[in-house]
Amino acid sequence: MTMGPYDILLSSPDLRGNEQDYIRQCISDNWISSAGPFVGEFEEKISKRLGRKHAVATSSGTAAIELGLIGSGIKSGDKVVVPDWTFAATASAVAHIGAEIILADVTRDGFGLDPVDLEKILQADREGPSRITAAIAVHPFGHPADMDALMDVCNRYGIAMIEDAAGAIGSSYKGKPVGGHGKVSAISFNGNKTLTTGGGGMVLTDNDDIAEVMRLHSVNSQGPNYRYKVIGYNHRMTNLAAGIGLAQLERLDEMLESKKRISDRYTAYLEQSGCLETIPHMPWATSNCWMYCGLAKSEAHACSLIEFMDKNRVQVRIFWRSLASEPAFQDIQRSDLKNCREISGRVVALPCSSHLTEEQQENVIALLGEWHKTVGAHS
Ligand SMILES: Cc1ncc(COP(=O)(O)O)c(C=O)c1O
Repeated sequence: MTMGPYDILLSSPDLRGNEQDYIRQCISDNWISSAGPFVGEFEEKISKRLGRKHAVATSSGTAAIELGLIGSGIKSGDKVVVPDWTFAATASAVAHIGAEIILADVTRDGFGLDPVDLEKILQADREGPSRITAAIAVHPFGHPADMDALMDVCNRYGIAMIEDAAGAIGSSYKGKPVGGHGKVSAISFNGNKTLTTGGGGMVLTDNDDIAEVMRLHSVNSQGPNYRYKVIGYNHRMTNLAAGIGLAQLERLDEMLESKKRISDRYTAYLEQSGCLETIPHMPWATSNCWMYCGLAKSEAHACSLIEFMDKNRVQVRIFWRSLASEPAFQDIQRSDLKNCREISGRVVALPCSSHLTEEQQENVIALLGEWHKTVGAHS
């Protein structure tokens, strides 16, 4: 396998299970499209694991969020509150369905959507012709946001809570699986996720009507003989992707254990060396340790680490940025975003694939130490 400019990648697929067998089965059975049987089986297994009544498998996590918004009744002209510090898709999905994005701050501890800022935004909205109908909570790096506090605000203001659990399969909040909170939850299975299908996602709910709407919209609402009930999308997962997903799911617990070991080793090193600041772990959280990140002193500090690691063929990169600072999101309504401004450009992701060996991680840690001694301590 060629690794491009890197010997150690950030987060690459761990395909050591039955993936090849299930793909071969798709081909030998001639079921490669969305109509194949693995899709339903994958939905059933994921919904069971996350304690949800319904799951709809999608072509991406972004598609899953779009369907979640539509299923929750969010429509053109509505406003949806989104954390400013997230992957762009959380916000893009809102724009794709014709709603307006409002960017809110994250908490300075776990970096999840800030319930206090959410409430401030909702109070202001209620003073005029109220248009906010939903908020989206993101679980950064797989670390759960404060769902009870966020749900409390959403319930008091009568808006839908949508859980963007894109990278968080296997995490739990106060013992309840992430992906099981709020009206609907979306998961991503893209190539850098702990459980990957190459590209893919899933949207989950306990509500029968919402599930029906999401399912209809995922397939252009096509029934037999070209009958259409809604104007939909082509968002359904293929049988090939679902086959990979089933094989991945068989090894999910093993992969999660490996990610936890990797995360614990980095945390021990960072705490002892002070090379990067560790990111706080909140008492309610069991993280799936999807993406291991530390906090650099500044963006320049983060960039010097990336440059040093690049020279040593190790992939390290800045993880997310304040969306408000990006050209694509310039004209978007926003709150003060103090915490997002403070962390943007400083969060650095370290290699943490579940197949990363202890020896590879020791090499990464040795390089971190070298950088810290020669460059990082002074920049
Ligand atoms: C928080 C968040 N939301 C949404 C997505 C979008 O998922 P996908 O890339 O599968 O469309 C991602 C993907 O990384 C993500 O991290």
